[in-house]
Amino acid sequence: MGKDVIVACDFSSKEEVLTFLDKFTGRKPFVKIGMELFYGAGPEIVREIKKRGHKIFLDLKLCDIPNTVKKSMAVLSNLDVDMTNLHASGTIAMMEAALEGLTRPDGTRPILIAVTQLTSTSEERMKKDLLIDAPIDQVVMHYANNAKIAGLDGVVCSPLEAEKVHARCGKDFITVTPGVRFKDGDIGDQVRVMTPEEAKKIGSDYIVVGRPITAAEDPVAAYERCVREFID
Ligand code: C5P
Repeated sequence: MGKDVIVACDFSSKEEVLTFLDKFTGRKPFVKIGMELFYGAGPEIVREIKKRGHKIFLDLKLCDIPNTVKKSMAVLSNLDVDMTNLHASGTIAMMEAALEGLTRPDGTRPILIAVTQLTSTSEERMKKDLLIDAPIDQVVMHYANNAKIAGLDGVVCSPLEAEKVHARCGKDFITVTPGVRFKDGDIGDQVRVMTPEEAKKIGSDYIVVGRPITAAEDPVAAYERCVREFID
């Protein structure tokens, strides 16, 4: 599985994201499009960015009844995205339906990964709001394993969980890890962070990097640095 740096394009308008991507005249980064941009700019933004030669991770975190997710995944697959995701809490049946919907007539499909527990959910909220009594680590690993059973390719997880996910679900099960910061950079609102080099060492397959690149004075240089530290 190819290692790569995915740039989180957390912009709210088409103009902003295209102005940002215009700076990349050499290597075209793998780009993450989230709900804000997708709902603001519509599916056309995916086609436009794809046309410019970028791979796309469409981060919409689907969760609904299996039939609805299956049909929605078919639409995303037609958009020709390279990676997309859903909530593992939707059950194994929902994840299996998603895979079915995502698979094109020629057998190809985008990479499908699962969100386990959102990192914004604390163990306390999980117990009180969701009535889940198991320790959060156990829940994350159980959901990752469910994703594996359903036939998904991997999970989004914190870089600190990547090793454990690989130990439980196998080396080929993809870990996509946000929360990456340069050694000399601002942490911002992230709590548990790793440098690209550390993420490489612990075996992350893809790192998702937003502000260290999008808010950098020279985004292209920051991206190249990330690639150097994580891949080269
Ligand atoms: O700017 P920053 O590098 O913190 O951006 C990280 C990206 O990864 C954002 O798009 C954020 O929503 C996403 N993300 C995250 N933590 C998670 C899941 C997704 O930071 N657990």
